[in-house]
Amino acid sequence: MTARGATVQICDGCGTVLSARDTRTQCEKCGGLLSLRYDPPAERGSTLRKVFDARLTARSNVGESSGVWRFRELVLPDVTDEEIVTQPEGNTPLVRRERVAAWCGLNSISLKLEGANPTGSFKDRGMTVAVTQASRISAPAVACASTGNTSASLAAYAALAGLPALVLVPIGQVSLGKLAQTIAYGARTLLVHGDFDDCLRLVRAAADKLGVYLANSINPYRIAGQKTIVLELLQQLGWQAPDWIVLPAGNLGNTAAFGAALREARELGLIDRMPRLAAVQASGAAPFAASFRENFRQRHTVHAATVATAIRIGDPASYDRAVRSIRETNGVVIDVPDAEILEAKAVVDASGVGCEPASAASVAGARALAARGVIRREDMVVAVLTGHILKDSDILLKYHRDTEPPPPLANRPLEIDADLGAVERVLATARQTDR
Ligand code: F0G
Repeated sequence: MTARGATVQICDGCGTVLSARDTRTQCEKCGGLLSLRYDPPAERGSTLRKVFDARLTARSNVGESSGVWRFRELVLPDVTDEEIVTQPEGNTPLVRRERVAAWCGLNSISLKLEGANPTGSFKDRGMTVAVTQASRISAPAVACASTGNTSASLAAYAALAGLPALVLVPIGQVSLGKLAQTIAYGARTLLVHGDFDDCLRLVRAAADKLGVYLANSINPYRIAGQKTIVLELLQQLGWQAPDWIVLPAGNLGNTAAFGAALREARELGLIDRMPRLAAVQASGAAPFAASFRENFRQRHTVHAATVATAIRIGDPASYDRAVRSIRETNGVVIDVPDAEILEAKAVVDASGVGCEPASAASVAGARALAARGVIRREDMVVAVLTGHILKDSDILLKYHRDTEPPPPLANRPLEIDADLGAVERVLATARQTDR
């Protein structure tokens, strides 16, 4: 037994225990990934819910103002306020949009707006924990491979902690907005001739051989932070478990984190039944969906291609943990074509909320599952929108402005001469279309 509150890392595969300060992200005996293990909080059920709920209104210290550290007993219990590197992050809205629900064929749908995090994606929730840990162990530098959001987030948190950051991104496959953020926050940015899977292989080797601290989602501290997306949305629902939580799936860190969060929430009596997870991939990058169709008999890898660059991943690193998440929640994995992802995005955007293409996969997935009768019309559904609308304005403008013929929901901007008559003519046609 470890002392109360002391965290260790434990191999998912063979149970080997490593100290919390160990920087290896893989078990040397069996190659398994590591998870954090800590003593569960003394409180359970409604008492624990009250602890978390009281912090919502207090908000006077780190543990209360961050939507990650509010749940610190289930994130990293033995950390002190002084050690925490926080923006703060989390506290993202959960909103209902009737138009989105109608498009999905559902009575209602709640959207968890993770794009409202400080760098515009859910990655900040894991990064506050990983960079806190890097800083606690005085890591010389932090590093990651990324399709753009992880790199932007790591760059920002490393800047906050005063740590050098190294990021590896696939050249030409990262949206300009994300690349711009990463550069602006000050990370040393390497444009790799290869895809995301190549970048991840390379950075894992660099972490092993060159001693930089790896901040990808195989890092158990990242997963611990990302669990709070689920904890926070459960709290926003008054701790009433929804029927479904739908999320986009790429490298499968989030699918792993969501399963872990639900397992703990159930074990600790925060919720009284298990929601089902629906992990949604883009059809051109769907190795996990292929494995699901074969009841996970085989692990697949593909050469990934999709407009949703954030989830353009062919060899997901957190495969085993994600399989566990799907099995334990009686979940499903599906894939949706790019055209449906873009249409879902146009619907979400036009509802006034907005998200990046990869995030819209969750809404496209909710519709596909409703059409197949897997999700029932009256089910309580939460779809996680993982990244902000401005993360990828190239694809957005291509859809609305440049695609021929115009896609179903295209909102073409109009070029006019600088006179009032031209504005008047446009208004007249707009009124006719409204009628
Ligand atoms: N949505 C967005 C906006 C993402 O950026 C990512 C992953 C995902 C969904 C998928 O999450 O990998 O945990 O299954 N982005 C990573 C990155 C790979 O480098 O930013 P996942």
